[in-house]
Amino acid sequence: MSLEFTFPRVDVSTVVYSVSRLEDISVSPDMLVVDSEVMRLHGNRLPLCSHVVEIPGGEAGKTPAAVEKLWLEMSRAKLRRDSRVVVAGGGTVCDLAAFAASTWKRGVNLTLVPTTLLCMVDASLGGKTAVNIAGEKNQAGTVYPASEVVICPEFLKTLPPVETANGIAEAFKTAVIGDRQIVDFLKRKDYLQAVPACLAVKGRIVSADLEETGERRLLNLGHTTGHCIEAVSGFTVGHGAAVAMGIPIAAEIGGNHSFAEELREVAGSLGIETAVPSSITLKEVLKHLDSDKKTTGRGRIWIVPRAWENCEQVVLDPDSERKLLEKVWQ
Ligand SMILES: NC(=O)c1ccc[n+]([C@@H]2O[C@H](COP(=O)([O-])OP(=O)(O)OC[C@H]3O[C@@H](n4cnc5c(N)ncnc54)[C@H](O)[C@@H]3O)[C@@H](O)[C@H]2O)c1
Repeated sequence: MSLEFTFPRVDVSTVVYSVSRLEDISVSPDMLVVDSEVMRLHGNRLPLCSHVVEIPGGEAGKTPAAVEKLWLEMSRAKLRRDSRVVVAGGGTVCDLAAFAASTWKRGVNLTLVPTTLLCMVDASLGGKTAVNIAGEKNQAGTVYPASEVVICPEFLKTLPPVETANGIAEAFKTAVIGDRQIVDFLKRKDYLQAVPACLAVKGRIVSADLEETGERRLLNLGHTTGHCIEAVSGFTVGHGAAVAMGIPIAAEIGGNHSFAEELREVAGSLGIETAVPSSITLKEVLKHLDSDKKTTGRGRIWIVPRAWENCEQVVLDPDSERKLLEKVWQ
C-alpha cells in the first residue's frame, strides 16, 4: 500500500506506506517516542535512535505533564526545526507526542508508526493532535499532519483482543460514513484491506477540510456521546468501543430507529457491543456533554447517520437535545 494525501490549505502532504516486517521500517529518527508496551514487545526490532523516550500508552497519560516531559527531552536532544520525531504507538501516544512535536520549535518533522488497529485505521491520519485536560477528552490540541505514516501489520499480532475490538469499532464508524465494503473486510478479519479502505475514506474527507469547518465533522459520528461514555466510565470503556455505542444513539437522535437497529445488528455481527453499560447514566453523560467541541452558539452539531455512506450534520438546541437523549436512554 502507498497512498498520498495533500492538504492544500497548509501546503502539506502525508505519505502512507506499508511494510510487512518491522525491520523494514526505514526511518531515521532524531528522537523516537515509543509506547512502553510496544518497546517491551518490539523494541529490539524498532529503528535505532540515540534519543528514545518511552511513554505509557492509555488515556491517563495523555496529559499536559507528559507533553512537558517530552519538550524537556526534545530540549536535551537539541532537536531543531529540521529534526525528525518518529512516534510508535497507539492513538494516545501518537496524539500526545504529535502535539509535542507540532509545538516544539513550532513544528518538527513527524513520522507516525501506528501500532494499534485503531491508530492504523484512523488516528494516524488527518493531523489532529491532543491532550486531555481535567479528565475531559482532547481539550487542547493542534492540527499538524505527519509527513509520513508507516503501517506495519506485524504490530497487530501482539495487540490484546480488547484493543483489536476498539479498532474494529472505529473502522465500523468509517464504514458507516463512507464505505460499506469495510464491513465485509472486517467480517473476514482482513485488516490488510480494511486499513487502506478506512484511510481512503478519512483521507478524502480530511484533504478537503483539514480544519474541520464542514465535512470533516462527519468523522465525529458517534463521538458526541462516545467521549462522554469514555469519560463517565473513567476510561474503562475504550475510545473505539464508546464511539460504536454512540453510533446507533446518533441514528435514534435523528429519528431513524430502523437504521439504528440495523447498525446494532451489523455491529453485533462484528462482535461490537453497542449497548451502553447501565452504570453510565444520562445524568452523568449530560454533565460531560458541554465540553464537546462541536458546541456552537446555536446548539450542538450532531452527526446523524441516515443510511450507509449518508450522514448529516444536525444542530440541536440544549432543550431538544436533552428530550431526545431522555427518549433514547430509557
Ligand atoms: N488524532 C485522531 O484523529 C484520533 C482519531 C481517533 C482516535 N484518537 C485517539 O486515539 C486514542 C485511542 O487510541 P488506541 O485505541 O490506539 O489506544 P492506546 O493508544 O491507549 O493503546 C491501547 C493499548 O494498547 C497498547 N498497545 C499499543 N500497541 C500495541 C501492540 N502492538 N501490542 C500490544 N499492545 C499495544 C498500549 O500500550 C495501550 O495499553 C484516544 O485517545 C483517541 O482520542 C485520535
